[in-house]
Amino acid sequence: MTDPSVPTGIVITGLSHDYTPRAGTRVRALEDVSLTVATGSFHALLGPSGCGKSTLLYCIGGFLPVQTGSIRTDRGLVTDPGPDRGVVFQNFALFPWKTVLQNILYGIGKRGIRGAEARDRAQHFIDLVHLTGFEASFPGQLSGGMQQRAALARTLAAEPDILLMDEPFGALDAQTRRIMQEELLGIWRQTRQTVVFVTHDVAEAVYLSDAISVMSARPGRIRRTLSAGFNRAADPAVFKRPDFTEQVELIWQMVRAEVDDARRPAPA
Ligand SMILES: Nc1ncnc2c1ncn2[C@@H]1O[C@H](COP(=O)(O)OP(=O)(O)O)[C@@H](O)[C@H]1O
Ligand SMILES: [Mg+2]
Repeated sequence: MTDPSVPTGIVITGLSHDYTPRAGTRVRALEDVSLTVATGSFHALLGPSGCGKSTLLYCIGGFLPVQTGSIRTDRGLVTDPGPDRGVVFQNFALFPWKTVLQNILYGIGKRGIRGAEARDRAQHFIDLVHLTGFEASFPGQLSGGMQQRAALARTLAAEPDILLMDEPFGALDAQTRRIMQEELLGIWRQTRQTVVFVTHDVAEAVYLSDAISVMSARPGRIRRTLSAGFNRAADPAVFKRPDFTEQVELIWQMVRAEVDDARRPAPA
């Protein structure tokens, strides 16, 4: 049993993951990943495309089995998906046949809450993501940014302890992305959930995070974990600050080295 007086957030120890397709070769996606995500912190994962970021996120979510090593949260070992961990995907993953309100009620239903209380709560999360007035709209009638707001509200409405976000703003235009980043920070300051946020945008990672882990080219390992902390200040001019741009450049160099590594042909 975990001791509730000692918050652990997420503790990953020696996690490796292999994909073994029925036909084709086995792919080692993760190798000996050990990582601690502090309770209530915003932690970004950066790394070259194909290095195993999504795999790591889905292992934490319980959607992929833990093959080697372990993942522990404050609630114990991760073996399955659970309502304590909510996921937001790049492609929104809303039910297209349900309205915004119905999509969000689905998130609340996962908590076993129904009726008037569920509707009040749904409205709270709709207002929180600034979708007030679009309750009866279907996802297909909304812009990409609005669909991602609805997806975020649906996940938040289930009130998970841990929010797992897989390049959630990757499909949005630069302007919408920037607004969504600001709003996500605003929401996170209120909810103080533990967030694991996968992105390939270094500035986004530095802007949002307490800590940033840079992963190696496949098989993914944690190369380095750095602390950031610009997210605590709520400074709208942060993108122009020299200490901010310096850290973005520093981390970009690390990611760049891994991207180059990923491009290098494997020795014969
Ligand atoms: N279902 C799967 N079957 C086989 N290989 C997979 C599967 N999913 C991902 N992979 C491989 O595992 C590696 C890591 O993938 P992924 O976690 O999606 O990387 P990232 O999210 O960092 O781009 C990649 O080489 C990818 O091709
Ligand atoms: Mg991915």
